[in-house]
Amino acid sequence: MARTAMAAVHDGRGTTLDIREVWVADPGPGEVLVRMGASGVCGSDRHVIDGEWHLPTPTVLGHEGAGTVEAVGPGVTDVAPGDSVILSWYYPCRRCRACAAGKAWACTGTRSGECLLPDGTTRLSDERGVVYPYLAVGTMSEYAVVPESAAVRVPSELPMDVASLIGCSITTGVGAVTNNARVPAGASAVVVGCGGVGLAVVMGLVLAGAHPIIAVDTSEEKLAAARSFGATHTVQAGPGTDVAAAVADLTGGGADYAFEVIGRVETIETLPSLLATAGVGVLVGLPPEGARAGIDVLELAEAGKTLIGSNYGGAVPGLDFPRLAGLYLAGRLPLDSLISHRIRLEEVNEAFAAMRAGTRTRSVIVFD
Ligand code: APR
Ligand code: ZN
Repeated sequence: MARTAMAAVHDGRGTTLDIREVWVADPGPGEVLVRMGASGVCGSDRHVIDGEWHLPTPTVLGHEGAGTVEAVGPGVTDVAPGDSVILSWYYPCRRCRACAAGKAWACTGTRSGECLLPDGTTRLSDERGVVYPYLAVGTMSEYAVVPESAAVRVPSELPMDVASLIGCSITTGVGAVTNNARVPAGASAVVVGCGGVGLAVVMGLVLAGAHPIIAVDTSEEKLAAARSFGATHTVQAGPGTDVAAAVADLTGGGADYAFEVIGRVETIETLPSLLATAGVGVLVGLPPEGARAGIDVLELAEAGKTLIGSNYGGAVPGLDFPRLAGLYLAGRLPLDSLISHRIRLEEVNEAFAAMRAGTRTRSVIVFD
């Protein structure tokens, strides 16, 4: 029996989302209907709204979400009605070489980037036709239908708002440290950009035992948040601040690891200058489509520095989501403190305005 859901829809025009009803069809074979509990408001949604990334429209936005399984389609065995699940914004196909190699984050068989389910369709529609779920999840909606491999069961005692964050920012930020960079205890690190994802990088560095942990942001409010999560030093970026010199002072010549968590070409280009000899720069922030950066190639080569890309924290959702949930439940990841605003779906446009102004750590939509 199909149902309606209130959802935040991007029509491809303007920078505000339309809050309106969409139709949600029953889950097909291998699919799961999820009643959403919470959806975070992430920087990647903003890239889409602001026209930096292009997708089929209309799109139900949101890709950082958690909820409760309401119903399952034929053949589903991983989850059952009543289970708490965190949604993964790519669904591993479980057949390609990357999946077989345990690198599900690099899956080449998924159609999540096209906002399509495995059979090339969606379960969402409105009176004009097909509606697309962003990254095949579309979490800013009361209901979502996702492939079984995108719904990862987690303990029911995990609060929904916290669970939603594990669906993107936490996995992306902590995973960049633990899976991609594999930062060893005692290494020095700098984090450029301390929004929801950057603060998750700080948390990952604390977990890894990095020292010192230097947070860089233009906003003093974000730097205060970074200190509360365990950054040992902060540098306020802005005209007249030489960030590289400040980092060199604090680390005795440059950091072992530097994370860019904004997605701006200008700050990406500064990464090599923040690093010590043989240091590793990690690209976590995602720039607009087609962006190109210039780096001093001789300096990079001579000093043996490395730049690595990091997407979704190199995560395998079925492995990493339960691990991160376990760390939270054991008191090792202060995820509640990351949530600065709990909002209703209707308030989502204000959350994006605050994100553009850099004034909130993380807004989370909580569904009734
Ligand atoms: N120097 C330092 N900090 C800056 C600068 C700058 N020039 N410009 C912006 N910032 C800071 C902002 O103040 C903010 O704290 O970068 C942070 C960006 O955070 P959010 O907008 O909250 O974005 P977030 O959700 O954390 O995502 C960051 O990671 O996964 C990607 O697509 C995502 O590209 C996005 C990035
Ligand atoms: Zn995200």
